[in-house]
Amino acid sequence: MSRVSYVNGRYYPHSRVSVHVEDRGYQFADGVYEVILIKNRYLVDEEPHLDRLNRSLQSLEIAWPMKQASLKQVIKEIINKNKLKDGIVYIQITRGVAKRDHGFPKKSKPTLVITARPLSVPNLNTNNKGAKVITIPDIRWRRCDIKSVSLLPNVLGKQAARDQGAQEAWQFDEEGLVTEGTSTNAWMLDTDNNLITRYLDEAILSGVTRLTIMDIARKEGIKLVERPFTVDEAKKSKEAFFTSSTSFLTPVVQIDDVIIGNGAPGLLTTKLLASYLRYLDSPKSNILIN
Ligand code: PDD
Repeated sequence: MSRVSYVNGRYYPHSRVSVHVEDRGYQFADGVYEVILIKNRYLVDEEPHLDRLNRSLQSLEIAWPMKQASLKQVIKEIINKNKLKDGIVYIQITRGVAKRDHGFPKKSKPTLVITARPLSVPNLNTNNKGAKVITIPDIRWRRCDIKSVSLLPNVLGKQAARDQGAQEAWQFDEEGLVTEGTSTNAWMLDTDNNLITRYLDEAILSGVTRLTIMDIARKEGIKLVERPFTVDEAKKSKEAFFTSSTSFLTPVVQIDDVIIGNGAPGLLTTKLLASYLRYLDSPKSNILIN
């Protein structure tokens, strides 16, 4: 099946789609994006993703390229054209095309790009061995709450992880506190069975999966604490995991050279993953693509 992508009002074969060389996203990383999971043809948590897109656009003073309702239609269309059952949709909005000059152009039309591709989602029977994470200093800017396409430190961090046989890198700030992964939010379970994830501030992205897992944890009566934790604490944790729209809830079994728990996904982690996979299969909170 050949992929179809959308740029500024038109659908193109993916292999032939392009944007202008003076697009500010290309030259300055002057843009924002979203990644939304598609499960069983449902768009998972569409509203919180669009809310966050709105916040990112507002923070950078980039205008909406179209009304939200029209954007939802285009997203649905692209999913249909790509005949996706399980997958992801990628939405990118930049400040648009203008003669290269750092300040905002007086006039520019935002560029809207939407792509989609298949992604297999685990099920309750998938054998999950868990992941290794490494820890690295957080060298990013101070507005990581904005989902900007400026991702170079994240790219370098992820590659450092892969070079060391790990799946993710957890970044830590000057005080040794874990901020987040390069493309995921970080979690740990302490010895008193408190489930801990960093509170929201400008140091991390407000992950939509993070919010959903928090909701599930509360409903299941798990003690949830939103606070930063150190790399040392994480290494002494009973269990750990990370979350995102594309990694779902991934158990962590090793941090740097330290094995977490008994080296297998923890009990609570496994329970939360099962609940999240059930949530993905429940149409309640998701939007059906017609
Ligand atoms: N990344 N933190 C960072 C830095 C991220 O880039 C992401 C998502 C998350 C988790 O957010 P959510 O649960 O809404 O996916 C946290 C996407 C998947 C990406 O860049 O591909």
